[in-house]
Amino acid sequence: MNAGTVSREDLAALLKWYVDHGLDETIGEEPIDRFALAAAAPAAPGPPPNVAAPTPIRAAAPPPAMRAPVPLESPQLAQDARELAARCNTVAELEQAVRAFEGCALKRTAKNTVFADGVPGAPVMIVGEAPGADEDRIGKPFVGVSGQLLDRMFDAIGMSRARDLYITNILFWRPPGNRTPTLAEQAICLAFTRRHIELARPRVLVLAGGTAAKAVLDTTEGIMRLRGKWTSLRLDDGTEVPTLPTFHPAYLLRTPASKRQSWLDLLAIDAKLRELGAKSAS
Ligand code: URA
Repeated sequence: MNAGTVSREDLAALLKWYVDHGLDETIGEEPIDRFALAAAAPAAPGPPPNVAAPTPIRAAAPPPAMRAPVPLESPQLAQDARELAARCNTVAELEQAVRAFEGCALKRTAKNTVFADGVPGAPVMIVGEAPGADEDRIGKPFVGVSGQLLDRMFDAIGMSRARDLYITNILFWRPPGNRTPTLAEQAICLAFTRRHIELARPRVLVLAGGTAAKAVLDTTEGIMRLRGKWTSLRLDDGTEVPTLPTFHPAYLLRTPASKRQSWLDLLAIDAKLRELGAKSAS
């Protein structure tokens, strides 16, 4: 294309086309043909016959130009993540493992790993969906407009992320262009998130939005049916956590009339914490 003859409208249309297809980051001046690089890379020795090759989890990734192709849709990656997570005995160890994990395709396009914010071990753990652009930039969950609403909602029952809340997402990396994460990407991150809940040991778990609720509760029910109903989440170590699905704050920003139901959810969380002796009468 000759830039001298291209109109501003055409350029704007081209940019919009990129964004619509999830290309919202500039990561280099020139395109890199990764197929050609992979073809030129020396072949790795294969596994013996009838033995499945283990999917490598590399603690430190080589520079992108030298990276060998990893089958990022392999179900083995979720199994790898589960085994890695099971070996972590503290939230700090889990955070290190997540930051070093190279088996999720989302990490390749994200700026930051968004692990958690607030106080590990706080009485309330909130699990949302995925980092957005603000979270990706800053490296913390729920720091954009929906995060600010979340803070105001919990402030209304006297709770803050500085003292009483621990916040994470089912995904640790922003999907490019905020696209819906694939089931494989969700399964990989969820392996870590389930262990995250076990290690953080909240008294109450809050699932913000339908995607988090469906993934964590392993259900096909929608948020309209799940919201406001307590359930007990049984974790792999046998722990049961009282769990409440609620609307995502981004949904509340679009649909303010639903705030009434969310207020009932907040009151239910407050009452549950008091019943469990995790919050004193104010
Ligand atoms: N939405 C989420 O689900 N999580 C975030 O961290 C930000 C927005």
